[in-house]
Amino acid sequence: MPRVIAIDGTFASGKGTLGKRLAKHYDMPYLDTGKLYRATAKAVLDAGGDVNDPKDGAKAAKALQLHQIKDPALNSGGIGAAASKVSVHTAVRVALYDFQRDFAAKGGIVDGRDIGTVICPDANVKLYIDAKADIRARRRYDELRGYGEDVTYEDVLAALHERDTRDKTRAEAPLKPANDAHLIDTSALDADAVEAIAIRIIDAAFTVS
Ligand code: C5P
Repeated sequence: MPRVIAIDGTFASGKGTLGKRLAKHYDMPYLDTGKLYRATAKAVLDAGGDVNDPKDGAKAAKALQLHQIKDPALNSGGIGAAASKVSVHTAVRVALYDFQRDFAAKGGIVDGRDIGTVICPDANVKLYIDAKADIRARRRYDELRGYGEDVTYEDVLAALHERDTRDKTRAEAPLKPANDAHLIDTSALDADAVEAIAIRIIDAAFTVS
């Protein structure tokens, strides 16, 4: 059976960085599922739709094409917030299931919010990545400034609390660690240290699966 590493976690916890590093280390394909929700939200907005309307979201999710998830405009803070709104709709999530499960069926590293709990409950290894809110906000602030966005740290922190609350309290597939997930708190760790911890966990799991 192809192996799957599921990575879930909070916004700006470092899970994307970890996922890309692990993909390189294990030479496995990598899917950032946040891009699917971001591309869906952007398509709704581009069509003049409403991200709070499940019908608009579902229509965009069903029509999603691969090239849309490669758009650099998906990285903006505004699209991230819109993605967190569009992703509460069950019809949107269901429309994106097949793409994620087809990818996972071939083996790979899948990063998101509900990978270990809903998309790949049988993943060989499940990691749940988190860090203190002020540290995540600082990281995201630096990243957005790097993209040239004119934001303040306070705005980023407020948006982060809003995203955390929406992601964790939605009825459908809320963000939470799977019962068998390994938790990694990256607050005091750099990317090398997080990768080293994850590799220890994964190598141990791969020797028994
Ligand atoms: O990870 P990223 O910040 O790109 O995700 C954007 C938003 O998409 C998240 O805040 C979350 O609401 C949603 N999302 C989701 N399920 C996933 C991945 C992302 O609901 N598997």
